[in-house]
Order: sequence, then structure tokens, then C-alpha cells
Amino acid sequence: MYSSKTSERKLDHINICLQEDVEHIALSSGFEEVFFIHNAAPELSIDELSLTSRMLGRSFSYPLAIAAMTGGHPATEKINRTLAEVAESLHIPLFLGSQRAALERSDLADTYRIARKAAPSAFIVANLGASQIVGEDGVKLAERAVDMVEADALAVHLNLLHEAVQPEGDPHYKGVLEAISKLVENLEVPVIAKETGAGISKEVASALLDAGVSAIDVGGAGGTSWAAVEYYRSQRSGDFFYARLGKSFWDWGIPTAVSICEVRSAVPEGFPVIATGGVRSGIDVAKALALGANMAGMALPLLRAYFRGGKKAVLDELSCVIEELKVAMLLAGAKSASSLSEVPLLVVGFTAMWLKARGTLRENVKIPW
Ligand SMILES: Cc1cc2nc3c(=O)[nH]c(=O)nc-3n(C[C@H](O)[C@H](O)[C@H](O)COP(=O)(O)O)c2cc1C
Repeated sequence: MYSSKTSERKLDHINICLQEDVEHIALSSGFEEVFFIHNAAPELSIDELSLTSRMLGRSFSYPLAIAAMTGGHPATEKINRTLAEVAESLHIPLFLGSQRAALERSDLADTYRIARKAAPSAFIVANLGASQIVGEDGVKLAERAVDMVEADALAVHLNLLHEAVQPEGDPHYKGVLEAISKLVENLEVPVIAKETGAGISKEVASALLDAGVSAIDVGGAGGTSWAAVEYYRSQRSGDFFYARLGKSFWDWGIPTAVSICEVRSAVPEGFPVIATGGVRSGIDVAKALALGANMAGMALPLLRAYFRGGKKAVLDELSCVIEELKVAMLLAGAKSASSLSEVPLLVVGFTAMWLKARGTLRENVKIPW
């Protein structure tokens, strides 16, 4: 009944993310190599901590975002409605999944529009892939995606790895930076550049800054691996060539903790950096902020929570993350989420080596050498 291949792929992705181990294995997010120096006497009470956050001219109750995931298949409408209701009630941003499916088939637009209906005042981020905006129609497509959900910003996802390891992929990025600049010039909303699990380097962050983006979501390695998802999809369809590619690139990328430092080192103070990719607890959120991010987001854990127990389970998951963040702030001696960026950190192992080799150590970060 639903013939669109893009739409069917959306459902395959969700099912695989629910049924298989799709996270990086050999490469972690790096957060486990980042340590706060425990503060036994911080002169703080847990109830005086401020978790509010600001980004792109808006205030949020927490430095947390629902990362881009879905829309584009009729079965995803309920998921987006639930995620939007959660974003509205917690006053946190909602990043929608790629709207390509609805640009190809207008009857799928409601699977995204539901988000604005369910979250009239939330900060909603529209989403398109870099492959879609390269080309003459880029600006028009982006305007349609933004209008579809009355979005407050547009995220352009840079998912070259994912495009390269899937049979239907479009790994052609020639002109991508110019296409992003055109969007920046023509759209009425800010443009956010995001990766989807392989991370952003300082060089790419500089180029994106020159292209005029208003924020960067590092989308680092260590969480959901799109090469892993495509490995399973190709295995299931008997496509051994692409299964091999997916397996080979399963652990490719820049770990999230590293990518936060790379991007932060390339952008001015105050430029919003969002951390997604393997953020799995409030302690990870605290570490992401201490490394220089302004906000952290989760995708896979919220999708799995939704399928475990709907809206209540998503809210429960986020309540745990918020409480973990509060306790981490207390024990690190940070009164506000924004002051986490000044808290001393010790970084060890592979992550420390990477930061040193690339010259991306921040002042509050110490390494063993
Ligand atoms: C089921 C699923 C679908 C996703 N779809 C999109 C998408 O359409 N557009 C996008 O920019 N990122 C998408 N992502 C990537 C996430 O936004 C995020 O950057 C990445 O999954 C890393 O976060 P995680 O480890 O918490 O899952 C998706 C992630 C998941 C799990």
C-alpha cells in the first residue's frame, strides 16, 4: 500500500534499531574516559541548581534535546506526536527526522505536522539531508520542510557515511557547503548543521561556520551507528556486498567527547554546540557540557523508551537523565548548567591522546601528560 521506498526505509530503520545492537562496539563516545574531580564540599544544595539553557534566542528548562529521529511513514505519526508532547511539557527542543519522505509524498506530511499540533510552543527543528539540498531546488525544498512544521530552525544532516554504505544511498557532496550557505542566505530561520553518528572535526566546523550556520550538532560516534543499521538491513535482504560495507565502517568516526572539543575549538565563545551520539545518562550530559557543548540530545534511548511504554516511559527516561545531571552538577560543584564548562576535568586514555594530538584541549581539561 505504501510504495515509497524512502518511507519504507524509515520503518526498517526503526525496526532494526529496536531489534538489533546498533551501537558502535570498538569505538565508544569517549565519555567514560572523562572524569569530574569529585567535590566533597561544594557549598551547594541540590534544590538551588539551575538547569535552564539558552540556544538561538530561546530559553529551555534543561540543556537537553530530543534528537532527530522520525516521520515519513504512517506508523511514525504517533511517535512524533508523543515526542512533541514530551518536548512541550518539558520545554526542551524537538529535532524532527528527515522530511525527505514528505517532500516526495505529500500525504506523509501529517506524520511531521503532528509535532507542531502537539507542541504549539516548542522549539521544533525541521530536518533535511545534505544530499537533498545540493542542487537547484535546495532552497525551495528547505522552505517547504520549514513551512510544513512551522519550524523554528532547520537542521541539515551530514550523513555521508550512511549514504555511502546503503544500496540506495546518494554519496555525492560536491557543492555541499555552498548549498548550506544558500540556505543560510535565503531561509528565515537559523540553519543547524548536524552529523548523524560519525562526528564533526574542527576543520569541518570552521567550514560550516564560514558557510554561516547558526549551530552545530556534533552527532559523534559512540552511539547509534548507521553503518551497523545498514549492515543489518543488507543482511536481511541478502545483499552481501553492502552488508560487508556496513560491517567494515561500523566503528568509523570521531567519538562524541572528542568531536565536542574539536568543534568547540573552532567556533567562537557562545556559538551553540549540541552533543548527540552515545549520550546515555545525565552524567554524559554533564560531561558533554563540561567539554564545551551547550546542550546534549538523545535519539536511540528515547525511541526504545517509546516502544517500551509510550509517553510515560519517555518521560521516565528523561526524568532519570535530569536527576543524574543534577547530582553530577552537585558533586562537580557546578551551580548552573552553563557553569559546567568551567569545572575541572581529567581526561585519560585514547580520548586524551586524541585531544592532545589535535590540539583541542580546553583550559578546564587536564590530561595525564
Ligand atoms: C531511529 C533513528 C532515526 C534517525 N533519523 C535521523 C534523521 O532522519 N535525521 C537526522 O539528522 N538524524 C537522524 N538520526 C540520528 C540522531 O539524530 C543522532 O544524531 C544519532 O542517532 C546519535 O544519537 P544516539 O546515539 O542517541 O542515537 C536518527 C537516529 C535514530 C536512532
